[in-house]
Amino acid sequence: MTKKIADAFGSASIKVPFLIPEITKNDKKVVSDSLNSRLLTDGPKLRKFESVFAKFTGAKFAVGVSNGTAALHLSLKAIGIGKGSEVIIPDITFVATASSVLLTGATPVLADVDEDLNISIPSIKKSITSRTKAIIPVHFAGRTCKIKEITSIARKNRISVIEDCAHAIGAVMNGKHAGTFGQAGCFSFYPTKNFTTIEGGMVVTNSKSVADFIRYTRNHGITKTLASRFSSGKPWDYDVENPGYNYRIDEIRASLGINQIKRVRKMNLLRKKAADYYNKNLVDIEGVIVPSKSIGLEHAHHLYIIRISRKYGITRDLLFQKLLKKGIRTSVHYKPLHKFTIFKKMGKIFDKLPNSIEAYSQILSLPIYPSISKKQQDLVINNIKKYKVWSKHLLVDFIRQRYYWKLRGKLYENNCGHPSL
Ligand SMILES: Cc1ncc(COP(=O)(O)O)c(C=O)c1O
Repeated sequence: MTKKIADAFGSASIKVPFLIPEITKNDKKVVSDSLNSRLLTDGPKLRKFESVFAKFTGAKFAVGVSNGTAALHLSLKAIGIGKGSEVIIPDITFVATASSVLLTGATPVLADVDEDLNISIPSIKKSITSRTKAIIPVHFAGRTCKIKEITSIARKNRISVIEDCAHAIGAVMNGKHAGTFGQAGCFSFYPTKNFTTIEGGMVVTNSKSVADFIRYTRNHGITKTLASRFSSGKPWDYDVENPGYNYRIDEIRASLGINQIKRVRKMNLLRKKAADYYNKNLVDIEGVIVPSKSIGLEHAHHLYIIRISRKYGITRDLLFQKLLKKGIRTSVHYKPLHKFTIFKKMGKIFDKLPNSIEAYSQILSLPIYPSISKKQQDLVINNIKKYKVWSKHLLVDFIRQRYYWKLRGKLYENNCGHPSL
C-alpha cells in the first residue's frame, strides 16, 4: 500500500503529490547561519552564488535577481526591447514569458510549438516582421529546443535571442548549457524548479554590457554595490543612469542556492531515472504517448508530460479527475497563452497554432521529483493502465500488432540466428 502523505494543499487523501521540494537539514542550517550575517542582502553570499552558477553553466557572467520573471524582464531591457518591438515566444509556456515582454512595452507574438512542446521553427519564420527584435525560446520541460536553428534564424534577421531556462537547470546541448547560446539565459529557482531558493532567479550572459546593465538595474539603477559605497567613504555618493527596480535576491536565498546547486546533478539523475521508469512502463499503453527520446542532449527532466490521445478511450480531463480520486496529483503545463484575456488583447499571432491547440487537449504532467519512489510511480502507472478503455476494435488491433511483432521476431531469429530487436 502506498502511504498517504501530507499534501501542500491540505488534502489528506494524497498519496503521490505533484511535487516535493528537496530541502535538507543542511539547507536549513545554511539558511539559519546566514540569518546571523550583518549583511542580509547584496553581499558575499550573492557574489559566491553568482560565481558558482557562472561556472555551472559555463557563462562568463551570472547575475542573481529576485525571480525568473525579473531575469527575463531585465534581459529584454538590456538588449533594448521596448515599445514598438515585437518578441516571438511559444504559445505554450508559463505566462511570465509573455508578461516580461509586456512589462518592457513590447508586444509578444505567439508562435506554434512542435511535437516536443518547444517553439516551432517554421512558425518562428512565419512570425518575423520588420518589428521583430527578439525571440524567447523556452527549453520546455527541460528539453533543449532547436537552439542552433533559432540562433541561425536570429543572426540572419538581426534578432536577439533571450533563452527562457526556467525548466532547464542542468540541460545541455552539444556540451553547452542552456542559456549560453543567445544574448542571455534566464533561470528561475521557484520551488517547483530543479533546485530552489524559494523565490529567486539568475541571468547568465557572455556580454559584459548586458551583465552590468542587469547588475545596476536590479538595484534601483544605482551604479555601485552596497559594499563599495561603504568602503568608498561616502556611501551616499552614487549615481543613477537609468530607472531601476528592486529585483535583488537576498543573502539567505543566495546561501540556499549555493547549497542546492551542489546537489543538482544528483537530483537531475534521480529525475532522469524516474522519467526512464515512466517511459518503460507507459510506452505500450495504446493512446498514451510518452515523451520522445532525447538524442544528443542532456534533458533536465523538469516536467514529465505524456499525451492522452483518442485511442486511450477517455479524455485527458477525465483521467486527471480519476487519478486525483486515487490520491495522485497531476497537472497541465500549460494553458496556451492565446486563451488568456490579456494576451488576446495585447499579443499578436501571425501563424496558425494547430499543434498548440491539439497539445492542450492531450497533455498531462505526471508527478516527478528526485524523491519519488518506485511504489508511487507504480501507483501512477497502474492507474493509467487501469483507466484505459479498450474498445473492441482497439483490442483486436492491439493483439494483432503484438502477435505480428512476436512472429516477426521469431522469423528473424530463425533466419539470422540473432535475437529479435
Ligand atoms: C517557463 C517559465 N518562464 C518563466 C518563469 C518565471 O519564473 P519565476 O516564477 O521565478 O518568476 C517560470 C516559472 O515558473 C517558468 O516556468
